[in-house]
Amino acid sequence: MSIIDLRHSLAEALKCGVDSINPDTGLTVDDIAEMFEYPPDDKMGDIALPCFKFSKTLRKAPPMIASELSASLNEAKLVKEAQVAGGYLNIFIDRDAFVKEQTEEITEKGESYGRLTMGEGKTVVLDYSSPNVAKPFHIGHLGTTVIGHSIKMLHEFAGYKCVGVNHLGDWGTQFGKLIVAYRKWGNREEIENGGIDALVALYVKFHEEAEKDTALEDEARAEFTALEAGKEENLELWRWFIDISIEEYKKTYAQLGIEFDSYAGESFYYDKCAPVLDALAKAKITKIDQGATIVDLAEYNMPPCLVLKSDGSTIYATRDIAAALYRKETYDFEKCIYVTSAGQSLHFAQWFKVVELMGYEWYNKLSHIPYGTVSIDGAKLATRTGNVVLLKDLFAQATEKVLGIINEKNPELANKEETAEAVGVGAIVFHYLSNNRIKDINFKLDDVLKFDGNTGPYAQYTYARSSSLLEKAGGIPGNSSYENCTEEEFQLSKTLSKFPEAVTSALESSEPMMITRYILDVCTAFNRFYHECQILSCEDEAVRARRIALTSAVHTVLGSAFGLICMKKTEKI
Ligand code: ARG
Repeated sequence: MSIIDLRHSLAEALKCGVDSINPDTGLTVDDIAEMFEYPPDDKMGDIALPCFKFSKTLRKAPPMIASELSASLNEAKLVKEAQVAGGYLNIFIDRDAFVKEQTEEITEKGESYGRLTMGEGKTVVLDYSSPNVAKPFHIGHLGTTVIGHSIKMLHEFAGYKCVGVNHLGDWGTQFGKLIVAYRKWGNREEIENGGIDALVALYVKFHEEAEKDTALEDEARAEFTALEAGKEENLELWRWFIDISIEEYKKTYAQLGIEFDSYAGESFYYDKCAPVLDALAKAKITKIDQGATIVDLAEYNMPPCLVLKSDGSTIYATRDIAAALYRKETYDFEKCIYVTSAGQSLHFAQWFKVVELMGYEWYNKLSHIPYGTVSIDGAKLATRTGNVVLLKDLFAQATEKVLGIINEKNPELANKEETAEAVGVGAIVFHYLSNNRIKDINFKLDDVLKFDGNTGPYAQYTYARSSSLLEKAGGIPGNSSYENCTEEEFQLSKTLSKFPEAVTSALESSEPMMITRYILDVCTAFNRFYHECQILSCEDEAVRARRIALTSAVHTVLGSAFGLICMKKTEKI
């Protein structure tokens, strides 16, 4: 029984107690289930009910309430004892029964343990990663990619149907520049071999040359206009640039275990902007300002939202509005979530407001999830000067370092490269998702890759430890005895029982950090159990059986939790 279920069953019993004091409080079982706290010290109980929370509705002193309510727990499931301490009702769990229930539940449910049902029948669209084609895919995109995917996985785990959309930056004047640069200085072979790097090099070259020769900018603009007008040669080049880019992005996504359901990028909305402009006009919320069309948002303390430039072209915001309308129509979402750096918060606040002003009552189903900046060894990124660390290079570097460690410590390991990649990339993801998402992050690669301390490799290593124990055990034997469970076994079970709760709070706060923290709690509890309790060497067969079952429960829960933060599992390190 997970802690959530336990809280619920305790609350049901207590509700009877509350009703017998005063049947008209209006308190529900869920209200009571929300009130529990975890005492800082086990000696004070495993779970506690602060009774001062009832003093208003029950009109009695909290210690009095606690003592009257304690009787209602006499028959409650898994309760060993309930003690009154001041205004608290401290509840002690029947430990052996709890370990048994908990372990059997995880064994039975397997990978579905911890799954929630709140999202059933509802669809969530997640817009994340979304790099700009022809510009480098650098570590600034790591946040949107891993936070976005983690939030997607959390929703899936909660029963939502999820649609992951990569809203590629695949439209805009940069393509005019790229077309000009390619025709002047590029060739097919070079791009085919060099991929995105070759495209970026052309883009950089364009800017260098344009400093000397300003006519190039005009040429680029003309080529983009021709592209917009549907000139076939330009369209062909543009499609090719995008294909090359997506192919390469997919390699990085594969390293993270990410797949998108749609790559409908900005260009997809090119012909869907005109109806948006009509709707805006109909809603009478636009104004012409120096030839451009804007929505004035002064009343909401925001600068105006530009929707049509004076040259008649649409912009980022127009396409975002068109995309939101399209997605509502296509997926009928319960939520549409956008994950980008905090630098774009105003952009989203502006166009969300425009959608509201257009009269769409679902405007409040749009939500922006921002995150902080990232630096490596203290150095901030500067995209313009080309001072960027590419995501693929960061992953390659981490993989190589881990491979070095494996070659030193376990040279016989099979699939060394694959493992090194899972651990190296996982280390970066784990580190990234260990902080409050809005906090700025600094990477010190050496710290990130440590096998001890609160790192990804430590978590992966612990998982591999459980895996190898299970392999040696050759399956979970039947006939477990749950008598006289040790303190470590109980603590481990209690930690495992908190998984659904961790998922819920991660989901509610959009903080994958709740999952990385939870993973560390499980690792600590499991490693304590591993060091203090004999597992395979335990002579009492029935005790050995339950310890193997507990190990298997750890393996299951860690595996599910890794999946929620896009960290791959490695059975052996
Ligand atoms: N391509 C944008 C960038 O790299 C991110 C797009 C985010 N999604 C959106 N619908 N605006 O900054």
